[in-house]
Amino acid sequence: MSKKEIKKNYLKKINKIIKHNKKYYDESNPIITDAEYDKIKNEIIELEKKYNYLKNENSPNNLVGFKPSKSFEKYKHKVPMLSLSNVFDEDDLLNFEKKIFNYLNKNIKIQYSVEPKIDGISASLTYINKKLKYGVSRGDGQTGEIITENLKTINDIPLEIKSNDFPNEIEIRGEVFINKKDFFKIKDKFANPRNAASGSLRQKNPNETKKIPLNFIAYTFGYSQRYLKKNQSDFLNDLKKWGFKINEDNKVLNSINQLIEFHKSFELRRFDLDYDLDGLVYKVNDLNLQNRLGFTSNSPRWAVAHKFAADSANTKIINIEIQVGRTGALTPVAKVEPINIGGVVVSNATLHNEDEIKRKDIRIGDIVKIERAGDVIPHVIEVDKSKRVKNTKKFKFPIYCPSCGHKTIKEFNKITKKYDAVRRCTNDGFGCEKIAIEKIKHFISKEALNIEGLGKKVVENFWELNLIKKPQDIFLLNYNKIEELEGWGKQSVNNLKNSIENSTNVSLQKFIYSLGIRHIGIENAKLISENIKNSTNFINLIKSKQFDKFLNIDGIGETQIKSLTNYFSNKSNVNITIELNSILKIESQISNKNGVLKDKCFMFTGKLNGMSRAEAKSLIEKNSGSTLSSVNKNLDYLVVGEKPTKRKIEQAKNLGINIISLGELKSLLN
Ligand code: IVH
Repeated sequence: MSKKEIKKNYLKKINKIIKHNKKYYDESNPIITDAEYDKIKNEIIELEKKYNYLKNENSPNNLVGFKPSKSFEKYKHKVPMLSLSNVFDEDDLLNFEKKIFNYLNKNIKIQYSVEPKIDGISASLTYINKKLKYGVSRGDGQTGEIITENLKTINDIPLEIKSNDFPNEIEIRGEVFINKKDFFKIKDKFANPRNAASGSLRQKNPNETKKIPLNFIAYTFGYSQRYLKKNQSDFLNDLKKWGFKINEDNKVLNSINQLIEFHKSFELRRFDLDYDLDGLVYKVNDLNLQNRLGFTSNSPRWAVAHKFAADSANTKIINIEIQVGRTGALTPVAKVEPINIGGVVVSNATLHNEDEIKRKDIRIGDIVKIERAGDVIPHVIEVDKSKRVKNTKKFKFPIYCPSCGHKTIKEFNKITKKYDAVRRCTNDGFGCEKIAIEKIKHFISKEALNIEGLGKKVVENFWELNLIKKPQDIFLLNYNKIEELEGWGKQSVNNLKNSIENSTNVSLQKFIYSLGIRHIGIENAKLISENIKNSTNFINLIKSKQFDKFLNIDGIGETQIKSLTNYFSNKSNVNITIELNSILKIESQISNKNGVLKDKCFMFTGKLNGMSRAEAKSLIEKNSGSTLSSVNKNLDYLVVGEKPTKRKIEQAKNLGINIISLGELKSLLN
C-alpha cells in the first residue's frame, strides 16, 4: 500500500470512531457491539504504532478519557452547593477565626471538626423515606445535573438506610473520587484522578461509570428535615452508623495552634495515603454556631480549606505577554519553557502587575522559580539572578493598551494614598477589543447567564467570525451558518440553541452581575437588585443616572457608586443594557418570603451586644425585613446599641420612627 492509501485507510477508521462515539456518548444509542468498537479502536492504535506519521486528534490514543455527555436533566439544589475559601498559613487562619469573632461580636473558644480535603468531585444524594431518590452533581452550585443512576453504581453509596433515626428527608453530600492505585491502572486514559472521576460520572450510560472503580466519602448535609444533633462530629458519627463511609482521619481539635500542628504532621503523611488530597477542611463543630454564621455569596463563614504547600520548579521565561482583562487591567503573563510541576505541565505564569515586575526585576530570558498550588494560577516566586545572561534589558511595561492603543493609567487610591499597582486601559465600553471579548466571556460565565456550550474558546472564535461582537448578538445567532463551521454539527448546534434559549430567563441579580461592572460582584448585585426590585426601575435609574440613591444601601459605598456612574456614562454600555433588557426575561426580585418583618425597614446605630452588624442584618433579612444606612422617612425602626450617634436618634425622633433596643428587635422576631 502506498503512503497515501495507508493514510486514507487510517482516516476511514478514525471517522468510524467519531461516528460511533457520537452514537454512544451523545445519543446513548450505540449501533455496534462493544467488541466491534474495540476492534476498530485497536486497528487504529496498531496502525499508529506501525506508521509513526499517522496522527489525528480524534485518535483513541489522544482522547483523554471519554467525552462526557451534555444531556442530563437539571436539578435546582434546595441549599446551594458552595465552595470553600482557602487559607495557606497561620496568619490566614487566625484571620479566618478573627472574622468569626467579628461576626459574632465576641471572642469565644471554637472547636473545629477537621477533615482531609479529598480532591475529587462533590455529589449530593437526596434520601426520601430512607431511599436514595436523587443523585446530583454540583453544577454551578445553584443547579446541578441528575446523575442518580451513575451514582448508584458506586458501592459506597447506600441505596436504602435501615436506621430508625435517619431523617425522613435529607440531602447527604460528599466526594466522589478514585484511589491512586486504581488510577494507576487507567492512567493513560485520563490526565489525573479527578478527571477520571468526573468523566466517569458524566457518562450517559451507567455501565460506563461502573467500569471505573469510584469511591464516595460523606462529609456534610444540605437540606435536612429535623436533624437535631449538636455538632458536625456527631453528624459524622451518625453518617457512619447509617452506613456511609466517612474519612478515617476526621478529628476534633480545640485551637488554631492544634490545627497548625495537625496540618504539619498530616502534610508529611499525604503521599502515603491512597487518595489525592489538597489540604484539610476545618469546620466550626457547633452546628448552631454554623447556622448563625451562615454564608457569604461563595462560601460558608464557618469553614475553610487549609491547603498544602505548593510545588515549584525552575524554568526560563521565553516571553512576557500583556493580557487585557474585563475591567481594563493589564496583566503581564510569563510564557515559560514548559515544565512539569507536581503532575501538571505549566507553560504560563502570571506576573500579577507592573509593580510586581519592577519589584522583582523580572526580564525575558531569566531563569525563574515557579510555584503552583492546587487550582491557583502558577506564579513566579523569584528570579535566579546568578543565571542571568549579560546585557539583558529591563522589561518595559507598555503605557498604551496593547489591544486598542488607548491611553492607560494607574489610579490613585484616596484611602491608601497610593497609586494602584495595576495599570488599566481607559477605553471604556466595547471600544477596546480585548475588554469587549472579556466582557462577553463574563456575560456567559457560570455565575452570570451560564450559557453551556458557549465557552471562552467559542466566544473568541465567534468574535473572529464577526458572529458575536456584543452580548446581545448571542441571541441573534445565525445557527445555519454555525452548523457549517468546522467542529459543529446538528446536535451540537441544537444544544447551543437550547442553552441560549434557556438562559434568557434570568434573575435581576444575575443580570446586573452579568454586565461586568467593576466593583459590582455577585454580592453587590444582590444588594442592588433587592433595593431596586425590577429591571424597569433599573433601566430608569440608568437613564436618570441617580446612583447616589444606592448610598442608602448598607454595603454599597462611594467606590461602587463611582463605578456605576462611570460605566453608565458610556453610551454603548447604556444601549447594551437597554437592548438586553428587551431581549431577556428578567425576573423581578420578589420579596417572596413572608417572614414576620415583611415590608419593615431597619437601621442600626451604636455597638450591638453579642452580635455583629452583619449578623443582625442577615437576621432581619432572613425574616423578610430590609436595612438602610441612613435615617429617612422609609425607615420603620432605629435599633440602638451602645454609644449610638445622637444625631441619628434625633432625626429618627423628628420623623416619628420607632426607636428600639436589640432586645426589642429579638422579641419582634419571637
Ligand atoms: S464541605 C460549603 N467537607 O471541597 C461547604 N467539602 O471547596 C463545602 N471537599 O465542593 C463542602 N472534602 O468538593 C467539605 N470534608 C469536606 C470536603 C469538601 C473535600 C470539597 C468539595 C467542595 C470543595 C469546596
